[in-house]
Amino acid sequence: MKNSWIQKASGEYVRQARVGVREMNEEHISREGFFGPASMIYHRDAAVAPKRVEGALSLRMAKMEHFNQLDENSDSGLPTLMLHNTEVRISLSRRAAAMPFLLRNIDADTLIYVQSGSGTLATEFGPLEYTAGDYLYVPKSISYRQMPSSETVALVVESIAPISIAEHTMLGRHTPFDSGVLGVPEVQAYDWPEQDEWELKLKQGDELTSWFFDDLPFDLIGWKGDLFPFRLSEKDIRHVNSERMHIAPTSWCIFESSSFLCVAFRPMSGVGDVEAEELPSRHRNVDTEEVLMIRSLFAGIEAPEFWHMPQGVTHGPLGEHRDFFEAYRKQVEAEGGKLERTFDAVSIDPFRRVTPTPAYLAMVSRYQD
Ligand SMILES: [Fe+2]
Repeated sequence: MKNSWIQKASGEYVRQARVGVREMNEEHISREGFFGPASMIYHRDAAVAPKRVEGALSLRMAKMEHFNQLDENSDSGLPTLMLHNTEVRISLSRRAAAMPFLLRNIDADTLIYVQSGSGTLATEFGPLEYTAGDYLYVPKSISYRQMPSSETVALVVESIAPISIAEHTMLGRHTPFDSGVLGVPEVQAYDWPEQDEWELKLKQGDELTSWFFDDLPFDLIGWKGDLFPFRLSEKDIRHVNSERMHIAPTSWCIFESSSFLCVAFRPMSGVGDVEAEELPSRHRNVDTEEVLMIRSLFAGIEAPEFWHMPQGVTHGPLGEHRDFFEAYRKQVEAEGGKLERTFDAVSIDPFRRVTPTPAYLAMVSRYQD
């Protein structure tokens, strides 16, 4: 979709979008994430949540404490599917014990974000140690075995379209991270206890096929190439920020495929120009869904939560949440301090509508518990 230089306006508005809008109740409507055609609209009143919703479409919020399903106790032994479309599957994983099998995703690349816990992702290329805040990428068709050393909670994204590291080409090759910081598996002979047989699960969508071997099929003595699993620690992400402008979160895109973006929200200092800092923004993303695994919210509130913001639906803090944030901002300004953005989350933004599963809707229904 092409942007146009023919831009029109009517009524009250600001010349520079997102700057000096304090009392104007700005809402950002944009196509294709934040980089397609966009309009800023100015409401008379502050945003409020709907009084009542009839029908399935709504902003969905859930607490991670309501996700109790251990992978090892499920029928498949795999993570629990939460939201999906024909191209992207988003699951939650809670695993305490090592997978008793090896796993190969036949259909899709896998991206795992570790929210808590630690352990080893033993890939056939070699082990990748992981801890909270790590992204683990496993290309389609490469086998692995997750072996937690402490109970591990993770977001698991499967994408039929290949996942790649997002390029921000105008910013040079070393932002938002240098490829030198990636953890790459070193070949290692796994000294796991002998077993009568080894099971390799081949996963196609929901369908599983098991191949059994007398000897462990992870027997590599070497590898080379540009197709391999790796680890990225969120601590190594060096976000682009601005002193004078709140920049769009798609600037913090870390991974992408033709069917979704993965945006890493990391704590950072706010915009120095208070007239230009208008986060959190009221907006509607016309062409992207947002599925957010959250660690902490604004104003430093720890809140492990899992949200779904459907495309085209206005969001950003509404009602009391907005009031709370405004009070926090005024307090920081009155004290002469600098606003810190403490929102800490990973957002998976599929380009096509995702459907929630009963497992996710059950978590949503318990939000007020
Ligand atoms: Fe959004």
